[in-house]
Amino acid sequence: MASSTLTPSCFGSFAAAASNKTSYSSPAAFKPLKLPLFWPWQKVKMGPLSVSPMGFGTWAWGNQLLWGYQESMDSELQHIFNLAVDNGINLFDTADSYGTGRLNGQSEKLLGKFIRQSQVKNDIVIATKFAAYPWRLTPAQFVKACQGSLERMQIEKIGIGQLHWSTANYAPLQEMALWDGLVAMYDKGLVQAVGVSNYGPKQLVRIHDYLKDRGVPLCTAQVQFSLLSIGDDQLEIKKICDSLGIRLIAYSPLGLGMLTGKYSPSKLPSGPRGLLFRQTLPGLEPLLTTLGDIAEKRRKTIPQVAINWCISKGTIPIPGAKTLKQAQENLGALGWNLTQEELNLLDDGARESPRKMIQNIFQTR
Ligand SMILES: NC(=O)c1ccc[n+]([C@@H]2O[C@H](COP(=O)([O-])OP(=O)(O)OC[C@H]3O[C@@H](n4cnc5c(N)ncnc54)[C@H](OP(=O)(O)O)[C@@H]3O)[C@@H](O)[C@H]2O)c1
Repeated sequence: MASSTLTPSCFGSFAAAASNKTSYSSPAAFKPLKLPLFWPWQKVKMGPLSVSPMGFGTWAWGNQLLWGYQESMDSELQHIFNLAVDNGINLFDTADSYGTGRLNGQSEKLLGKFIRQSQVKNDIVIATKFAAYPWRLTPAQFVKACQGSLERMQIEKIGIGQLHWSTANYAPLQEMALWDGLVAMYDKGLVQAVGVSNYGPKQLVRIHDYLKDRGVPLCTAQVQFSLLSIGDDQLEIKKICDSLGIRLIAYSPLGLGMLTGKYSPSKLPSGPRGLLFRQTLPGLEPLLTTLGDIAEKRRKTIPQVAINWCISKGTIPIPGAKTLKQAQENLGALGWNLTQEELNLLDDGARESPRKMIQNIFQTR
């Protein structure tokens, strides 16, 4: 069977992921009873789908330029996938444009392979994104893009088919073709649900209404959403999502790594991220200190607090992880809740931060 939605065995074997401890090996003889990170009734409905309160993002799985991906990482990435699934995570975000150069589509290919080789095949929801490339000018070409993703992953159906970005700002005619493409892939049964990404408040309402008229529910909207990118637009988008029954997927919840506490102006990542971080990190100390204080008090880590903040705001974060240690740590964002007082402190810290993440260039109004 090759479908992106298979059944859960996720509540059977929960690892020690809720802990903030980073060691992931435990003596084979002693397996303490662990509570699940979330209960089945805490799964989130997305149209016909039911997903974990947090997903995993896989942009880095194939991207050499920004994320330093090497094929030698594949075995660890497979362990990350298995660890996530073992802990009840069933939402994986990818895109047909993830993977640089000859590795284009690598993220989808790896996910497909990991699903096939996984013990737990059920209930997994792949949310992939179709790029609004300038040569995708007709609905049929967009449907072809969807078929390409299905082939790369070797699955029968995609969980959520998302339009990666809107062309409304620079090619409004193409935008209409892309919307019709979404309708066509839904009508053909290639995707179980439809979503958008990088849509601003106005354009989000427009596409929602258009799809509704065509009998297609818009289930998800994916935007950059974190303590480093929260602003009027994000709040307005969240409000619209709530009123229209759309789920908000929070991408880059760790600010590409800046909200982990491991980078500073004197300790930057290599490559293009270093340039971005050099501009954004100065002045971020008060927010990182607040994150650190809360983390220490709650016996959590900074990334866990930053991700939990996204969940507390009613979004479904999809943090990226490149190592098993990071994946295990990020799973510890589940199973507990920040208090209102802690949320207020974090909101204040975010508001007072002098610099924010740059908006995605494709984000519309
Ligand atoms: N729709 C869109 O246009 C769009 C845009 C961007 C992202 N996304 C989606 O959102 C997902 C997540 O966003 P993102 O990957 O951009 O950024 P992110 O989740 O904010 O940050 C992920 C990066 O932070 C570092 N990290 C993660 N967990 C960590 C931990 N526990 N401790 C220390 N470092 C840790 C890792 O990089 P290092 O180890 O190298 O620091 C990791 O690759 C993507 O994978 C993708 O699926 C969508």
